[in-house]
Amino acid sequence: MAEDMVALRWEEPPEPGDGPVLVLLDQTRLPAEEVELLCTDVPGLVQAIQTLAVRGAPLLGLAGAYGIALAAARGFDVDEAAGHLASARPTAVNLERGVRRTLDAFHAAVPGQRAAAALAEARRLHAEDAHGSREIGRYGLGLLEELLPGGGYRLLTHCNTGALVSGGEGTAFAVVRAAHRVGELRRLWVDETRPLLQGARLTAYEAARYGMPYTLLADNAAGSLFAAGEVDAVVVGADRIAADGAVANKVGTYPLAVLARHHGVPFLVVAPTSTVDLGTADGGSIEIEQRPGSEVTEFTAPYALGVGAQQPGAGVLVAPLGTQAYNPAFDVTPPELVTAIVTERGVVSPVGEEALAAMAAGRIRR
Ligand code: MRU
Repeated sequence: MAEDMVALRWEEPPEPGDGPVLVLLDQTRLPAEEVELLCTDVPGLVQAIQTLAVRGAPLLGLAGAYGIALAAARGFDVDEAAGHLASARPTAVNLERGVRRTLDAFHAAVPGQRAAAALAEARRLHAEDAHGSREIGRYGLGLLEELLPGGGYRLLTHCNTGALVSGGEGTAFAVVRAAHRVGELRRLWVDETRPLLQGARLTAYEAARYGMPYTLLADNAAGSLFAAGEVDAVVVGADRIAADGAVANKVGTYPLAVLARHHGVPFLVVAPTSTVDLGTADGGSIEIEQRPGSEVTEFTAPYALGVGAQQPGAGVLVAPLGTQAYNPAFDVTPPELVTAIVTERGVVSPVGEEALAAMAAGRIRR
């Protein structure tokens, strides 16, 4: 079995007196090439977050946490760094949480120990994420076995939720890997995930790496796939889950939930509890990131050719010059369309305010 990719790592200074480096696997260059991006300051890391060189909710949490450790170790203003990092992208709650946890650890430590305390906290979060992802895979597989006793699952997924977004095997993709490991993954349907192609570029890349039986489809082909009876369950991740159970995830998730309901197919959301935000009352209160219209009006050659980071305006126009584009990065699926939420603490089903609050308080049904 291929080794997991390392999406992010901390490198100690090669020489005393040098500063540490946060090393990212540049996801804008995949699948064409595996190139590392070295972050030595906060503006560089913020840019990596905004261009999606580093992305996906749990990994954004780790990037934010290590970003504070980096600022502390290199003697930057840590509070200012926290402001920039936490607001680099608004939807995934993990980012601000990773920043906040590490910042609190930094301030709680005695002077002289603060940089070390921030790094230790970032490492703790990293280890928790890896452990959580193993538990998620275990609970998710158990749920599939319960919902689909015949085995031989044909799972549909959207966006990218694997080792590239996590210190472990990821979220929804951890469940896919658990199913594959026990020989029950009959087919993984991979939505390409327009406009930035996280499915085509990243999930297909991970699925191929682990020898999974997978098929890529254009997002708008999902309807006919359901109609043909080819999907047994949908498994997706989340960027923020509101107190009422509404789920913000990569744009295109909500239409899948509607299709799943229409066709009587389970729709499973898989996320660590750090993605559950009881402070956000409902889906309408979740801030949805709006991305540049050029991501829709252009095909961006760098992704296809692997020759550099995606930049608005760097692609080939596929719409008349001046065309306005609607480009939300995420959409919101209402709780009534979600069959279950799988976390590292167990499964929440049916999904609702009380069940989520109980889970957050450690009282889980199973
Ligand atoms: O814009 P991205 O690529 O950061 O969006 C990622 C997603 O929407 C994932 O599905 C989500 O973060 C859950 S992954 C663990």
